[in-house]
Parts: sequence; structure tokens; C-alpha cells
Amino acid sequence: MKKPVVAAIVAMDEGRLIGKNGGLPWHLPEDLKHFKQLTTGHVVVMGRKTWESLPAKFRPLPGRLNVVVSRTPALIDAPAEVLRAASPEEALRLACEAASGEQKVWVIGGAELYAATLPLCDEVHLTVVAGHHEGDAWLAEFEGAFALAEERAGESCRFLSFRRAEAP
Ligand SMILES: NC(=O)c1ccc[n+]([C@@H]2O[C@H](COP(=O)([O-])OP(=O)(O)OC[C@H]3O[C@@H](n4cnc5c(N)ncnc54)[C@H](OP(=O)(O)O)[C@@H]3O)[C@@H](O)[C@H]2O)c1
Repeated sequence: MKKPVVAAIVAMDEGRLIGKNGGLPWHLPEDLKHFKQLTTGHVVVMGRKTWESLPAKFRPLPGRLNVVVSRTPALIDAPAEVLRAASPEEALRLACEAASGEQKVWVIGGAELYAATLPLCDEVHLTVVAGHHEGDAWLAEFEGAFALAEERAGESCRFLSFRRAEAP
């Protein structure tokens, strides 16, 4: 069976900031729409803190199989349809097993999950938010192993797509 594409989707500012006080440092409807468009119908993998940051009415994220990672997965406060994993590797394995047809596996954060899984991702879909904001979570460097494949200017941010670079 074909292995699903594993992609990360993340928004960062010009200082690589991605989070503030357990939430996002900004409110960007354009980026939320982009996130919904790309991930709906697919499988999403997230850390326990990102799971808890989702507003109750969007938890689990609708139209997507949700997989949550915790060192104590039995304690994750989630309904039965949410898959639980004890490590990022287990989460990706469960997500890839569950993905069917053309479904992708999307890593949707946060900082700790990105750091653990970016080396395993085939693609990164990065929103760059203008300026330097305040916050407390940052995106690990990944660009060295990837090549820019697409770039599109939005109204309030830039949307970049990276694919893993071919080995020389
Ligand atoms: N800008 C963006 O695109 C974006 C996207 C998503 C999230 N965020 C932001 O990122 C911030 C959250 O990031 P974060 O790094 O604090 O949290 P996180 O990555 O969402 O979750 C961290 C938790 O995941 C579990 N975990 C992580 N590594 C693990 C491992 N190796 N094995 C087992 N479990 C593991 C642990 O859960 P337990 O503690 O339960 O063991 C850990 O506390 C928030 O501010 C959020 O809003 C931003």
C-alpha cells in the first residue's frame, strides 16, 4: 500500500514565533481558512497542549481524524473517536495506518511536536506572518533539508510550500 504524504502546517512570524500563552500570537482569519482548506478530509496529528488549545466547539477538529500525542495518553481528555499515541513516532504510524486513498497526514503542532516530526515530514506548508510578535513558542529550523516549491502572497501573510530536498 502507498505510504501517505506526511506534511506539517504551521504559521510563524519573522522571528519564528508560533505561540503565546498556549494559544496563537495573532488572529488571522485568512490563515485559519487556509488551514481548514488544506487539512479537512485528512488526518491531523498534534501535541496534547495544542489539543487543549483548540476551542471546545472545534475539538476534535471536524471532518478530520484527530490523533493526539502525550506521554500519558490515557489521561488525554478527548472523546473515543480521537486516537491517542504515546510518542510522535507512534502517532505518525497510527495516522499513516488510518489514512486512506489520497488522504494526507498533517502535523499541526505545536512547537514540541514540530521539533520531533519535521525530520520525518515530506512537506512543510508554512505561513509567514509579517513582523515580530510576543510569545513563548518557536518553530525549529527545518529549511536546510527542504526546497521551496511554491510561494503565494496573501493579504496579510505569505504562504510557502516546501518539499523534502532530494538526496544529492
Ligand atoms: N502557529 C502555529 O501554526 C501553531 C500550531 C499549533 C500550535 N501552536 C502553538 O504552539 C504552542 C504549543 O506548543 P508546545 O510545544 O507547548 O506543545 P505541543 O507540541 O502542542 O504539545 C506538547 C505535548 O505533547 C506531548 N509530547 C511532546 N513530545 C512528546 C514525546 N516525545 N512523547 C510523548 N508525548 C510528547 C506532551 O504531552 P504531555 O504533557 O501530556 O505528556 C507535551 O507536553 C501553543 O501556543 C499553540 O497555540 C502554534
